[in-house]
Order: sequence, then C-alpha cells, then structure tokens
Amino acid sequence: MSKIYITTPIYYVNDKPHIGHAYTTILADVLARYHKAEGDQVFFLTGLDEHGQKVQQAAQKRSMSEQDHCDDLAPRFTELWKKLEIQNDDFIRTTQDRHIKVVKAVLQKVYDSGDIYADEYEGWYSVAEERFITETEKESGEFRDVKCLKERNWFFKMSKYQQKLVDHINEHPDFIQPEHRKNEVLGFLKKPLNDLCISRPKERMSWGIELPFDSDYVTYVWFDALLNYITGIGFNSDQKKFDTWWTLSVHLMAKDILTTHCVYWPTMLFSLGLPLPKKIFAHGWWLISETKMSKSLGNVVNPLDLVDQYGVDSVRYYLMREMVLGADANFSLESFIKRYNSDLANDFGNLLNRVSGLIGKYFDGKIPEPQKLTVEDKDIQAQVNALSSEIKEQIEKMRVHDAIEVVMKVVRHVNTYLERQAPWKVAKEDLARAGTILYVATETMRASAVHLSPVMPSKTEEALKILGAVSTTAKWGGLKSGTKLETHEALFPRIEMNKDA
Ligand code: MSP
Repeated sequence: MSKIYITTPIYYVNDKPHIGHAYTTILADVLARYHKAEGDQVFFLTGLDEHGQKVQQAAQKRSMSEQDHCDDLAPRFTELWKKLEIQNDDFIRTTQDRHIKVVKAVLQKVYDSGDIYADEYEGWYSVAEERFITETEKESGEFRDVKCLKERNWFFKMSKYQQKLVDHINEHPDFIQPEHRKNEVLGFLKKPLNDLCISRPKERMSWGIELPFDSDYVTYVWFDALLNYITGIGFNSDQKKFDTWWTLSVHLMAKDILTTHCVYWPTMLFSLGLPLPKKIFAHGWWLISETKMSKSLGNVVNPLDLVDQYGVDSVRYYLMREMVLGADANFSLESFIKRYNSDLANDFGNLLNRVSGLIGKYFDGKIPEPQKLTVEDKDIQAQVNALSSEIKEQIEKMRVHDAIEVVMKVVRHVNTYLERQAPWKVAKEDLARAGTILYVATETMRASAVHLSPVMPSKTEEALKILGAVSTTAKWGGLKSGTKLETHEALFPRIEMNKDA
C-alpha cells in the first residue's frame, strides 16, 4: 500500500466552469479512484483561486463586491463536481482564513530570510496576464492589454534558486512530465531568470492578501494561489498531516500554467526550505475547431449540458479516452457521439446485453456453472488476469487513455469470441458447454466493469449490480454461478446522429 496526494489547479472564479476545468478535475478523480481501488491512501485537493485582477474585474462587471461574486460563483463549481461524481477530500478557496494565514506566514518567513526586497521597476505589464512581461514577450504579440508601468514593488529572489532548480530537474527525471514539457522548462531556464514581482500596489489592485510587512500592497495572485497546495494539507496547522502528504504530491494541470508551477513554485519552496512536489504533470488543451476553449472566445462547452443529455459516465469516459495525455485534443459533439456509440453502446453495453439476454434465454437468468475451460477460454481468462498489471503500467506512465484501451481491447475480443463460439447454437446440443462460454463472457464483462469503475463509477456499479457481483476484485472468478441476473435496460442506448444537424 502506498500514498498519493493529487491536486488540480485552483480555478479562477471569473466565470462558470467549462469542459477544460472539468477535464483536469475528472482526470484527478479517475487517478484518485484508481489508487483507492488499488488499496492506496489518497488525498485529493481541488478548489478556487479567488484573488487577483481577473476576479476583481469580473466582480466589478457584475457590480458586486469581490467576496459576494466569489460566494455566488463557488457553488457552480462545487455543484458541477458533485454532478461529475468528483470525490475530492477537500475544497480550498483562497479567501478562506486558513489560506490567508498560510500566505501571510510564508510571506513573512521569506521576507525574514532576506529573499524579498523592494525595488522600483519600469516595464511592460500585461493586464490580461497580470504580470510584467519581457521585451521579447511583448514583441511576440501574444499578450493582450500591454502597457508601460513604473512602480515600486516587492520582489522575490527567484534568480537565486535558478541553478538549484536546474539541478533538481536533472536529478529527478520524473519531476516534470511529459518529457517534452520538462525540456521546455529546461530551455526556459537556460536564460537568466528574473526575480519575481510578488506585490501589487493597493491603489491599482486591492483584491488580494495584504503583505504582512507593507500594508500598501497586496500579494501577487500566483504567490498566493500556489500556496493552496500546502494550505490544503495543513501546512502551519497540522504538521502530521502535512508530513504525511507533501512529498507524495502530484500536481495536475494543463500546459498553460507550466512555468508558474515548474519555476515559480519550486523556487518558493526552496526559499521556504520545503521539499519539492514529487511530480508535475501538464496535459494538453481541449480545442474547439483547433482553437483553445476559452471564455473570451465564447467557444466554451458547458459540461452540465452534456451530462444532462448523455449521462455523467459517458462524458467522463469520452474525456479520458479521447485525450492522449500530453497532447491537445479536439472536442466536437460528433466525436463524442462516435466514441459513445462505438465503445460504450456497441462494445461495452452490448456485451452486457448479449450475455444477460442469452443467460435469460437458456439458463433461466441464472449465471451458469463453468465446466472445463478450453484453450480459447483460457486465453481470455489469461487476458483478463493480465489486465491489472497492464493498467498499472499505463497509469504509472500517466497514459490513462491507454489504460482504458487495454480493457476495451479485451471487451472487443470477448465480443468476437461470442460470435465465434455462438453459444446460441451450441446450447441446442451441449448446454453445459454453452454455459461455460457464457460464464467466460460474463466474467470478462464483470472484470472489465471493475477495471473501468474509476472512469465510469455509476454505470459500472449498475452493471455489477445487474450481474449480482458481490466481489469487486478484478481477478478471475468473481461471479457466483446460480446468481439470478437482474433485468435491465441498455446501459448505453445508441445515440442516433441527426444527419440534418
Ligand atoms: N488560477 C490559475 C491556477 C492556479 S493553480 C495554483 C488558473 N486558473 S484557470 O481557471 O485558468 O484554470 C486553468 C486550468 O484549467 C488549466 O491548467 C487546466 O487544468 C484547465 N483548463 C482550462 N482550459 C482548458 C482547456 N481548454 N483544455 C484543458 N484544460 C483546460 O490558471
């Protein structure tokens, strides 16, 4: 048994959550459920980033106080997570007292250690990004709302830790994943690192945590937000809890926030004298028509609409199966329906329909007793028993789509096995043999449902209930002969594509 601490980014409460946010949160949930099923201890944290300019502007637009705006939007996230069957252990909001205390204590500690200093700074400032940008960044044209700003501010000596960070990355090959993201960070670290401006004058931006050593300033939103990962497990309040989880942390996010997590965050931890997280994993973006889904483009897909229409499990399945972790993926309703129909309706759901239909017809709905297994039966048995280690291997490499695919391959295989063995024909001459075939197919269905339960918790539970499966271990032999199958509707009824749509 081992332990793992899984985090998602804390999302900005500047609008309602979209499918991109849902994706990282579902991914974290699938990993958490997978590890729990393996007998590991898991702590899973998600939450909201409630300070900073974006949130302040969003509140102003709605003519609301910042806190009222956050309090109003927070339930949209928590309700969505409930609907998506997210089993997080804690939900952190950066306006909570416990977090404000940690941020202030950290700022004071870093200040006392001499890693924070005041300086006058003149440079290009991106209002949209909420940070000073370099000349090259400005010229790239990728930044919106850029203006020249001259200001006295507080700086964190990030540059001091540059070499230490490079060494850490080189000595811990799994620290930043996937590999190409690690190389991106190492490339970034080839140039001298600037110190990090960690304050905002209140007269310009007041919605943040006040610096404990200068009340004219609030702290920069990222210096505040990143600390959620240690607040959430009791830093400065519950040492035992913190020690249990911190070094086992796996931070999940998309590539947009790679630098903040792989450069700002580790250098802050170095300054605090804390160990670095175990792993930082940046996945790609969900795109719509090749463009990143974003609220400013208005191309966001509301996950709730999809869930209401097609069910939570199929949305979870699609998102997990369709995206190759690390690469971008294109979202379209058409690809969703295609995936649903082929994998869930035709392969997985159909297997259950077939075995329960045949067992109903030939065995009075009771799971038959298997006789001696043939070579082909044993081959399926061996494939089913190999699944656990094959899935483990894929999950360790963070290849969730492949972990799903190894199960689906066996599901497809057993469907063709049924075609070939034709128990409906065999039953006429050798009922016992037909029973063995159906036992093999049904047991494969059961094991597949167990393996897919982290991805589709509800539908697999339903399938297992139909099979009267008491055992939730995936190992061969969990079905009890003689158990009466429950009558049921199709798990995943086919979605008919509207050709005119
Ligand atoms: N508040 C910061 C994170 C602070 S973490 C200490 C932030 N928030 S955000 O609301 O913009 O969320 C960004 C994250 O949402 C991404 O890193 C990713 O996890 C998820 N996604 C948002 N849009 C996405 C896509 N289009 N595709 C995939 N994931 C996306 O940044």
